[in-house]
Amino acid sequence: MAVDVKGLIQELVQEYGSGSESLLPILQRIQEEKGFIAKEDAWVVSEQLGIPLIEIYKTVTFYELLWIGKRADYEIRVCGSISCAVNGGNKIYEAIVTELDIDSSGLSRDGRFFVEKVSCLGRCDESPAMMINDKVYTGLTPEKAREIVRELKEK
Ligand code: FES
Repeated sequence: MAVDVKGLIQELVQEYGSGSESLLPILQRIQEEKGFIAKEDAWVVSEQLGIPLIEIYKTVTFYELLWIGKRADYEIRVCGSISCAVNGGNKIYEAIVTELDIDSSGLSRDGRFFVEKVSCLGRCDESPAMMINDKVYTGLTPEKAREIVRELKEK
């Protein structure tokens, strides 16, 4: 179902106000609702909050869990922070990259998967962890991670 970004922004402006402090919660909500922030959404946010577009891009590029545009059907974020790293996080990343034949841009050849390493996903106690779109997977092993992405490949 298409998300009414204008309506969503109006609703959020009522909740958070129309100052620059509303920018981050609004971008987070759009990301949650759509799975990404479209370029047109960034324009609407800019217009509605009176914040220059460049500031919106700066905010999006600063926060790893926000991004402009849909990159792939499955966006995989493997935690690269310390708790996961000491529990084999790098092997999880390598297993996924190999299984999906990911190139240096982070995309698979068929364009269905995007893989990147990110900072802590907040699940350190169950590390190593990764996210696929908005679902978090924890307690991974390379084999478990391969199975998860293999199932998605077959869909
Ligand atoms: S260090 Fe990986 S989830 Fe926190």
